This record gives sequence, C-alpha cells and structure tokens, in this order.
Amino acid sequence: MGSKLNLHIIFLLFFTLYVVQAQDFDVTKYGGAAGADITQALLNAWKDACAATGTAQVIIPKGTYTLNEVKFLGPCKGEIIFRVEGLVQAPPDPAAIKSDAWVVFETITGLTVFGGGTFDGQGQKAWTVNDCSMHFDTCRILPTNVRFNFITNGFIHDITSLNSKMFNLFLLGGNNVTFQHITVTAPANSLNTDGIHIGRSTGVKILDTTIGTGDDCVSVGDGTKDLTVSKVTCGPGHGISIGSLGKYDNEGPVAGVHVSDCTLTNTDNGVRIKTWPNSKPGSASDISFTGITMNNVSNPIILDQNYCPHAICDKQPSRVKVSGVKFDNIKGTSATQQCVILSCSPAVPCENVEIGEINLVYNGPLGPGNSTCLNVKPTFTGHQVPPVCTPPQA
Ligand SMILES: *[C@@H]1O[C@H](CO)[C@@H](O)[C@H](O)[C@H]1NC(C)=O
Ligand SMILES: *[C@@H]1O[C@H](CO)[C@@H](O)[C@H](O)[C@H]1NC(C)=O
Ligand SMILES: *[C@@H]1O[C@H](CO)[C@@H](O)[C@H](O)[C@H]1NC(C)=O
Repeated sequence: MGSKLNLHIIFLLFFTLYVVQAQDFDVTKYGGAAGADITQALLNAWKDACAATGTAQVIIPKGTYTLNEVKFLGPCKGEIIFRVEGLVQAPPDPAAIKSDAWVVFETITGLTVFGGGTFDGQGQKAWTVNDCSMHFDTCRILPTNVRFNFITNGFIHDITSLNSKMFNLFLLGGNNVTFQHITVTAPANSLNTDGIHIGRSTGVKILDTTIGTGDDCVSVGDGTKDLTVSKVTCGPGHGISIGSLGKYDNEGPVAGVHVSDCTLTNTDNGVRIKTWPNSKPGSASDISFTGITMNNVSNPIILDQNYCPHAICDKQPSRVKVSGVKFDNIKGTSATQQCVILSCSPAVPCENVEIGEINLVYNGPLGPGNSTCLNVKPTFTGHQVPPVCTPPQA
C-alpha cells in the first residue's frame, strides 16, 4: 500500500514537471543577435510569450546586446519567466529614453526575472546632465534602469543592475514580490542612483543582495507594507532609508518594515527614517532594524523628521507620525561623532521607540561618540554605547 502510494506520487511529480515545462521564446529566434539592437526582436518575443498559455520563457542568451526603451506590458495569459543571461545595454544618451524608465515590466501576475545577466544603464553621460541636485523641483527625472509596475507574485533574482542613469530597480504597486541575489553597482559620485526603491507595495522581500551606488541602498516610499530586508550589503551610498515621507498629499502609510542582518560600509547614513518638515499628514509604524553592522558609516542611526537636503525648508514641523520603531543589535564604527540621532517632530512626537543593544564607536578627533534625542522618549533594553538620550533631552 505504502510503496504503491509512493509510486503514484513519483508519477504525479514527473507528470507535473512535464506539463509545467515552459515554452521558450528566445530573442535570437526572433532575429535578435549579439552585438546588435534587439529592441524589436525582444518586443516580438514578448508578444508571443505573453499570449501563450502555460508558462512562457523569454530568453536573452549570453552575449552583449543593445536595447532601447521597452515596456513589457501584461496582463499575460500564463506565467512569465524572463531569463536574461546576456549583457543588455541602454543607449548612453539620456534623451534617447522618453519615459521614466528604460525597461518596464507592467501589470503581470507570476513573473520571474533571472539568469545571471546584466542591465547596463550606461549612465555615465546622464550623471553629468542630472540637475536634480540643483533644480530639484523642475529637474528632468532621468530614467530608472528597470521598473516593475503592478507586479503580483514576482521573483527577481540573480540579476545585475549596472550604472543606471537614475534609480536602479523600482517596484511600484507590487504584491508578493521577492528580490534575491541582486547586484547593483554604480559609482559613489553617480547622482540619485538608488539601488532598490519600493513604493506602494505589499509583501516584498529583499534578500542576499549587494548594492553599491551614489544614493540610497534600499529606499522605501509611502504605502509600503510588510517589507523584509535581510542580508543586504550596502556601500558606497546613502544607506537604508525609509522616506522621505510627507511631501505629497494622500501618501499611504508605511507599516511593517523589518531590516535585519545587513552590513553597511562607508555609507553616508546607516539606517534612516526621514520625513519633510511642514509635511502632509502621514504615518510610519512597526519598523525594526536589528543585527546591523556599520563600518565607518556616517550617521549610523538617524531618525530625521526635519529632513532638509536643500537647506531651504519650512520651519513648520513634520506631521508624519512615527511609532513602533526598534533599533537593536547595531554595532560597528561611525564616521561621525553623532552616532545616534533621534530627531522627532514636535507636532507629532515619536511613540514606542525601543532601543536595544547598541555599540557604535567613533574614532575621530572630536571626542567620544554621542547621541541626540528630540521629541522622543525611548524605552531601553540591553546596553548602549554611546549612551542614548542620556541625560534626557527634550
Ligand atoms: C508569491 O510569489 C511567489 C513567486 O512568484 C509564488 O511562488 C508564491 O506562491 C506566491 N505566494 C502567494 C501567497 O501567492
Ligand atoms: C570613513 O568615512 C569618511 C567619511 O565618509 C571618509 O572620508 C573616510 O575616507 C573613510 N575612511 C576609511 C578608512 O574608509
Ligand atoms: C556631539 O557631537 C556633535 C557633532 O560632532 C557636536 O556638535 C556636539 O558638541 C557633541 N555633543 C557633546 C555633548 O559632546
């Protein structure tokens, strides 16, 4: 009886594997060739893959290709596997891309992108014309390398994003999407090249990933719920950041962001929550940073409700409520004397902030490390170096 059942199960397994085998749509079968522009070939392969029943696999084999702005638009009939083994290069001229991203995956349920390949944004020229650091309200937003809009059940893994013109990977309106074994590389002086940005998404994981850029490693926008960031290595760049929040009307709450077992090296910030002064109302809650190693990080722990990067901010306080935040087991070296900054809003003071084990050492010439606390009364467990909110501040 037992062995008969096992045979049945084995048979069923083989049968299932056979049936779910993906149908392949290889770009080289659509006229795409290494060394050439594959835009049209890839769009044709996509069209057939998206219309196919069952699982369809689009393949870009090993080789170097050029690709113009493309949008892979669903919904598709079946699940999509997008297998990138090659090195795909964007046009270097930012004017060649008219929309906000070079490669877009949109409205797809069941999307896997993998294959060990690279999306090379060739951003070197774009960075020299990026005026968003000077004319931040009127600047032209340069294209993101790869955007994922409204993806449900996504698995993006073993992919590299290189030298994006602006943000590298951008997830908007995602539901149940995992990023794993992602590599993002851009130089420290490249402007606004955030590694992975998550906005208005639910159930997202970023795991086992290495990000070096000129801006945030992972940035979390409004409306993000249930995000896990684990075993991510950051640097150079600006660290792991929630926000900035409160700039726009009707921003969704950020709730449930858990960052653990990450290492940051030579970044401008460590773990950060930032909200604008004179902001719209909003909220950020149920957030934890645990098991974080800092190597020569400036502002290793920073909760900044008076975020003002361009030095012309309103004096009115932020109205984004920050609550339920835990910092625990955070250790390493700080490049700035202020190792911990908890600067909450006088209009909506932070609530339920929990400080656990902290061991941050500043080795510079200014004296021992210190901390700042405003409009927050944390609870403490474990031991803190430097002392946090002692003596009690505002
Ligand atoms: C989440 O997405 C993954 C990857 O596509 C899928 O395997 C899994 O079944 C999904 N989970 C749920 C609850 O739908
Ligand atoms: C530490 O960080 C500071 C500030 O970013 C930088 O100037 C310095 O070169 C770094 N030191 C090392 C040893 O990397
Ligand atoms: C803490 O560090 C800041 C930044 O270096 C410095 O301005 C301030 O005087 C320090 N506070 C104390 C109490 O040492």
